[in-house]
Amino acid sequence: MKYDLGTGEEKNWIVAESSFSSSLLGKAEAVMSLGNGYMGLRSAAEEPYVGEVRNLFVAGTFNKSDAQEVSELPNAADVTRMNIFIDGERLDASVRTEDYVRALNLKTAELIRSFIWTTSAGKQVALKFRRFVSLDNLHVIAMKMELEALSDNVDVSVESGVNAQVSNSGAQHFFEGEKRIYDKKYVEMVTRTVESKIDFMFHTVHHVTLAGVELNQPFMRMDRRLIMLSYQGTLMKGQKFSLEKLTTVHTSRDKEFKGMTLQEMRDCALSSLKQCAAEGYEKLFARHARAWEQRVWKLYQLNIESQDDFDILAARFALYHLTAMTPAHDERMGIAAKGLSGEGYQGHSFWDTEMFILPFFIYSNPEVARSLLIYRYLGLEGARKKARSNGYEGAMYPWEAAWPSDGEMAQEWGRVDIVTGKQTKIWTGFIEQHITADVAFAVWQYYMVTADQAFMDDYGYEIILDTARFWTSRLEWDEVSGQYCINDVIGPDEYKEHVDNNAFTNYFAHFNIQLAMEYYSNLKESDSDVFHRLNELLDLEHAMEAWMKCIDKIYLPQPGEGLVIPQDDTYLTKRIIDLTKYKNQTHVNTIFEDYSLEQLSDIQVSKQTDLMILFYWLEDRFTNDVKIANYNYYEPKTIHDSSLSLSTHAILANDLGDRSLAYRLFRQACEIDLGPEMKSSDLGMHTASIGGIWQVIVMGFAGIRMLHGELRINPELPEHWNKLEFMINWQGQRLELEITADQLVVKATEQVPVKLDVYGKEYCFDDVLTVSLTEARGED
Ligand code: BGC
Repeated sequence: MKYDLGTGEEKNWIVAESSFSSSLLGKAEAVMSLGNGYMGLRSAAEEPYVGEVRNLFVAGTFNKSDAQEVSELPNAADVTRMNIFIDGERLDASVRTEDYVRALNLKTAELIRSFIWTTSAGKQVALKFRRFVSLDNLHVIAMKMELEALSDNVDVSVESGVNAQVSNSGAQHFFEGEKRIYDKKYVEMVTRTVESKIDFMFHTVHHVTLAGVELNQPFMRMDRRLIMLSYQGTLMKGQKFSLEKLTTVHTSRDKEFKGMTLQEMRDCALSSLKQCAAEGYEKLFARHARAWEQRVWKLYQLNIESQDDFDILAARFALYHLTAMTPAHDERMGIAAKGLSGEGYQGHSFWDTEMFILPFFIYSNPEVARSLLIYRYLGLEGARKKARSNGYEGAMYPWEAAWPSDGEMAQEWGRVDIVTGKQTKIWTGFIEQHITADVAFAVWQYYMVTADQAFMDDYGYEIILDTARFWTSRLEWDEVSGQYCINDVIGPDEYKEHVDNNAFTNYFAHFNIQLAMEYYSNLKESDSDVFHRLNELLDLEHAMEAWMKCIDKIYLPQPGEGLVIPQDDTYLTKRIIDLTKYKNQTHVNTIFEDYSLEQLSDIQVSKQTDLMILFYWLEDRFTNDVKIANYNYYEPKTIHDSSLSLSTHAILANDLGDRSLAYRLFRQACEIDLGPEMKSSDLGMHTASIGGIWQVIVMGFAGIRMLHGELRINPELPEHWNKLEFMINWQGQRLELEITADQLVVKATEQVPVKLDVYGKEYCFDDVLTVSLTEARGED
């Protein structure tokens, strides 16, 4: 991958590759994927290759391909493929190709690919492809192709249309559907998902010219799940063939289609395509680029002046994907663990959203954070269903969530067990339960940072109170210790299954209940309608009795020998092995070549952050000495096989004063998708780590934290950073920050008084605050 192709205005905005390898297609497909939150399009090349993955996902359109499968985002029809022939020879960029560049321009969210190709007879043509998925009109995919005959006259043939012969790794989600071509021009494909019965409508139009003359009599082909138009002609040397292809994608899940018949939806979709056709690629592109400028780059105003250009590029890459992956338009939808860029994790939402991605939205775009939390509110139905079917009360959030009311969507069987040869059972959907407290924690964080009382009244309190009800029914009384335990769980570290008293889970469950008690008391005192409604719904008086009974008796693992907190009851008794090989691995999961998951349970090895994320989010419950001791104990045993791990470790390393380690870990976190490992992104982007990049910059290096509802800023920039600029929203007001090695400047854009803490000193201001960091840190 190349990051230095952008020059001038485009410097540090271009993610590119400068050669084509047909055996390493997945990386660019995912890393350069396009999206607008409504849909995500993997960046497979126009001309097909063996091993490519052509994906188009529309957020929220979950379907079960058969009763044994879990619900997943179906891979919708492909509109990007083109069959291109020069003198009858199929275009193949893996041979006789020069000047190959495929580049994603992060600023304009446009994918551009260009190269010169020589036919086997030695004739040269130049090709240039452009495409974008509009942020201005969420239903539009626009493509453009230009082919120039460089050396000789050539015959050109391009076949393009809508291809619904796609699947999710073989699983078919759609019925055959209906096909139609209007006026030899407007292609229509209407398909329906087999179980959820969602109608998908694809409309496509081409505008093709050869040497400036329009070609409008294409050869038309229909086949099973396929409509293709082909355009052909002879190009004289120096002449150009150009094809513009505009597609609109709509589904019956679209809010604006509520209550409409299929025919009405189709008519609407077709007329919106016609409007697009009247505008053409360039005009649509200008509007799309403006939307990115206004709604992303101007809004977030993130800038890093670093001696290493990669840093700002990585930050922009994160903002790009955070925008592309997030269904901000519809609160019935969550963020998928791979965004909309690949089949991995089937489009499901995990704790990745609440703990890794949501902080970005809470601080930078609270409206979107609110929508994502309403998704969890709507998910209460599924969470209550899950609690009931497991014999618990309250709301037990699914480890993997799809459509809000679905409940648990985790698969039951996974990778091969290298000892038995059978599939390994996936226990997460049953016993990885911390997600329930993570959701409650996220609601609290949102409320503290935004002060959005209406959200709490309508949604937030109910989530926090009902999740706390789950925890009281989940606790197990232990006669011997006289404490409540949480047994048989998986904590964040998924290499330890069926453990008792995972520290993260216990502390977070405790936090969840404590919060519910506080809110219960406040609500009761207010005697508000909200209290009466929730009391009736959740029997709060009873719940409070149960909370009071257990709160001081929940077992919270404490520092023991060497200040080490046991990650769970038995972790510290397991054997220790030499992990050097796995710590130095170039790609993840190599440990499974030597051990089965069951065997890993008996070794002190961790997949990912566990205690560290506890220290990060509940930082004031632990002293620095304890954090350092545990960092030093657990990090050497953590092989970071999960992409969620590195960003948290980077933040902790910075908090604990090791700036160069923090930067090294930050860099590694960025390289999960941007690094040289060419296969790591095959199944899609690592969205939690993308959210983590923003968190390391803002929560880590800038040192932003919300503590007890107060804002704290303890900046510690990497040594080679000269300046960091960004914005956050704090309780309804936009704050603009500029941090250098020795100065912090915060601007309150609405002149509303702000109180904040910098290195233990409190400041109040309502305009611009300038703090000398050297003085604040007590340095000379
Ligand atoms: C991680 C989980 C994460 C999931 C989805 C797993 O590999 O261990 O923590 O939620 O991936 O990203």
